Amino acid sequence: MPEACTYVVFGATGNLSMTKLMPAFYHLEKHNRLTDEVKILAIGRRDWDRDEWIETVKEAVMPKARGGITDEVCDRFCSRLDYFKMDILNAQDYLKLKEHIEANNWPNNMAFYLSLGPDQFAPAVEHLGEAKLLREDSGWRRVVLEKPFGYDAESAKQLQKRLNKYLDEEQTYRIDHYLGKGMVQNLMVFRFANLMMEPLWNRNYIDHIQITHAEDKPVGTRAGYYDTSGAMRDMIQSHLLQLLALVAMEPPASMEAEALRNEKVKLLQSVRPILKKNVHNQAYRAQYAEGSVNGEQVPAYLQEPGVDKNSVTETYAALKLYIDNWRWAGVPFYIQTGKNMPKNRTIVAIRFKHPPKQFFRDSQVKKMEPNWIVFGIQPEESIRIELTAKQPGLEIMTEQTSLDATLKGDVDTSYDAYEELLLDVIKGDRSLFLRYDEVKAAWTVVDPILQAWSSETAYIDTYPSGSWGPEGAKKLFDHPEQCWRYHY
Ligand code: BG6
Repeated sequence: MPEACTYVVFGATGNLSMTKLMPAFYHLEKHNRLTDEVKILAIGRRDWDRDEWIETVKEAVMPKARGGITDEVCDRFCSRLDYFKMDILNAQDYLKLKEHIEANNWPNNMAFYLSLGPDQFAPAVEHLGEAKLLREDSGWRRVVLEKPFGYDAESAKQLQKRLNKYLDEEQTYRIDHYLGKGMVQNLMVFRFANLMMEPLWNRNYIDHIQITHAEDKPVGTRAGYYDTSGAMRDMIQSHLLQLLALVAMEPPASMEAEALRNEKVKLLQSVRPILKKNVHNQAYRAQYAEGSVNGEQVPAYLQEPGVDKNSVTETYAALKLYIDNWRWAGVPFYIQTGKNMPKNRTIVAIRFKHPPKQFFRDSQVKKMEPNWIVFGIQPEESIRIELTAKQPGLEIMTEQTSLDATLKGDVDTSYDAYEELLLDVIKGDRSLFLRYDEVKAAWTVVDPILQAWSSETAYIDTYPSGSWGPEGAKKLFDHPEQCWRYHY
């Protein structure tokens, strides 16, 4: 059982907190994963009291509670909650916050979760520091930073410089919620707990690797943030490069935080830099036009409230990368993500090469399919291995078959990524959080593309909402036989 702790959530009334963090705390309560001495203090600007906050949280948690909400768990959970109104840009308010925590005699171990806009990270940490809330005299102090960490490599460096004055790296928890997903962790288990895979996991046998994250939703209420960010920053720089690192890194010395993060950094640093002249051969962007998603007519990105009418922000981005190390020399990695696509689907697909000789009779007529290993990350959690086998019957004819494992847990064993990560902060386990050099290496991968795109403000390709993205992204493939795979 993790320790006593005061969990202070900044931006508690915002979207992330309401849809993810509060439900995650509720589920930790339900599964008895918190000691009685864990307090959850919400920070917001609204003039609410504790009772109003509790009612708001209950409403938010109710529809998300797996297996329904029970009075007993709900009462226990609500007894931990409190609300404190303050202005996060006002230094005096941090002194009052400190007094409030002390007056209530809450635990001296404190986690500050900054569910804030990226430009508010530095001021919040500076004020916490000045108010002596980050000094570890009588308990640990940890700060959780949501993504994005910076806007590019340079701004990430500047941000880190400001944080460094008040925060040690050991106190810093840069969250990437993809690392809390069960199937993302399964990429590591599958690779490093199964001996039969490792000899095949390299350029000799693998033709290419694809990572696709498709969403059937528009930008929604987040246009203000998204229009300054775009798909490359929002998804690829963070979540999808993490998937790349896990699928391609060398085995770590252990599962300890530093060992794991060393390997991810090494991998990201081995990505071949994209030269300016190659940006258009290695990256593609587009924006959704109007169309139909799940049978509903939806507007174009440019018509969304909060989006600049001349915006060339991409809601779809695709990227081809090469990793210049011994294992992956010459193997392309294709990554794509988009909003308003036909389905929610995140998959990592590994396509193998053809056998050196195709000598079964039907291979003279049709080209035999290569082997695939496909990880369904979400919503289906699965591992599928596609093979060729003999068709039943007198003659030796082949057919495609597959070995399938569906891994989704039941209501008692399934969990949301944030549950594990919130708990890891209390435990002091940073293995699923990002180190600064990792974030920096990821920015270095995408920076040349972002720079090129930022100077091209006159035109952006579009794709109909409800389609699998722009035709133009197909030009990234090295070989006519390669194409995006959308099914598990
Ligand atoms: C967030 C992005 O980090 O991840 C969102 O800001 C995106 O734009 C989301 O929709 C996807 O996360 P998940 O867990 O729903 O796949």
